[in-house]
Amino acid sequence: MDNNFDVIVVGAGPGGYVAAIRSSQLGLKTACVESRKTLGGTCLNVGCIPSKSLLHASDMYFKAQKEFKSLGIESTGIKLNLSRMMDNKNKSVITLTKGVEFLFKKNKISYLKGKGIILDKNTVAVVGNSNKKEIYKTKNIIIATGSVPTSLPGIKIDEKNIVSSTGALSFDKIPKELIVIGGGYIGLELSSVWKRLGSNVTVIEYLDHIIPGMDKDISGEFLKILSKQGIHFKLNSKVTGVNLVKDKAVVDFTNNTTSKRERMEANKVLIAVGREPNIGEDITKLGIKLNSQKKIQVNEKFKTSVKNIYAIGDVIDKGPMLAHKAEDEGIAVAEIIAGQAGHVNYNVIPAVIYTSPEVAIVGKTEEELKKENIKYKIGKFPFLANSRAKVNNETEGFVKVIAEEKTDKVLGVVLISTMAGTMIAELALAMEFGASAEDIARTCHAHPTHSEAVKEAAMAVDKRPIHF
Ligand code: NAI
Repeated sequence: MDNNFDVIVVGAGPGGYVAAIRSSQLGLKTACVESRKTLGGTCLNVGCIPSKSLLHASDMYFKAQKEFKSLGIESTGIKLNLSRMMDNKNKSVITLTKGVEFLFKKNKISYLKGKGIILDKNTVAVVGNSNKKEIYKTKNIIIATGSVPTSLPGIKIDEKNIVSSTGALSFDKIPKELIVIGGGYIGLELSSVWKRLGSNVTVIEYLDHIIPGMDKDISGEFLKILSKQGIHFKLNSKVTGVNLVKDKAVVDFTNNTTSKRERMEANKVLIAVGREPNIGEDITKLGIKLNSQKKIQVNEKFKTSVKNIYAIGDVIDKGPMLAHKAEDEGIAVAEIIAGQAGHVNYNVIPAVIYTSPEVAIVGKTEEELKKENIKYKIGKFPFLANSRAKVNNETEGFVKVIAEEKTDKVLGVVLISTMAGTMIAELALAMEFGASAEDIARTCHAHPTHSEAVKEAAMAVDKRPIHF
């Protein structure tokens, strides 16, 4: 293989592999370095994909037990086979990671197996399995090294009793007691999985509400729904220690208001207090500028402070740590390197929590708009008044459309519904086109669908919903 490239991408997660494919599509000679055994990064291997497999399977198990009867489906002897559920999850992961490998071949991308070390603005060393080092030259480098789970001071994740999301995706037995530290995306998705499969789950969250940065209406409603599902919450509580005593993990925490100390023990503790950028020594050595949160500083063209070196995804100081944000940046950076006008609109990045019901958000929350002194109006519509949701017994949740007071332009939408993750795409598209609430209200939505609630919420902005 000729060791000279136009682009070398370091990291083959959703940001990196998409950047490699787009670069190659644009005629750039491209290589992608990956140290994990399979392509696809955290998302495909130990993140979005395996968690969605377990969320789906556990939801089916739960529904078969609790909801089928009311639909007139009598079932007896439903049993959980956890190892088969895990096999199914692993099979999905393998299929999808192999899929990326196929796409690399199809797009003639050189897949460099090993740890990529950036030596200078035109040189990447790749250290393979047998510690053999190969040197590659390139005109451009894209850092797409992603993020790793954060822990708390003094708490060591052993992936056995004290686990990160990686460990919590592969328990071989249902933990009788599971304590989840952190009521964010990961904490709530994995709490849902193990609660449905039979664990007694307690979430300990530092803030007085779940999901930091989420619209308060939603986090309040969501907390009620999850509590009704049997998940216990200790809010406004700071975890101060997690210690192993025999085969149990003992968690100490303190109430932030009353300073009351509490102690709980469990078979497993999941630490889900966020992720931090994966910054290798090479990045530090090269003097690439980082912000105060140790994220790589990039400009609007994803250029770092070092010439020819770009960065995208969880590792940069722009946007949320989400796979689809990284993918869009991957496309944009490749287009910029190829001399085109790649761009990411950070105002319109949807985020979804894949619980049941799902929670989805795009654009600004009311709290953010208040802070920015932007006047707005809202339209809200509950799924209790949506015919399809009623037919399906899925009446929890609502849609809230937030529009600018003067112009009616949609500034944000929050959704809580079984279908929220799919429905949010319509709103992202509307916002990308600069739609007003009236535009959505006047768009014909098929009946009977959950999506009619979006139209009704848009009509409610002008105080004229039909079914509520
Ligand atoms: P997160 O930032 O969403 O939530 C972490 C939570 O831990 C926060 O609510 C925080 O207040 C709490 N916390 C921090 N220190 C604490 C302490 N000492 N005691 C108690 N609580 C404490 O982080 P999470 O859930 O780990 O997710 C990491 C990243 O992965 C996020 O950026 C998220 O967007 C992404 N992700 C996205 C998913 C999706 O799109 N569905 C799924 C999973 C992860």
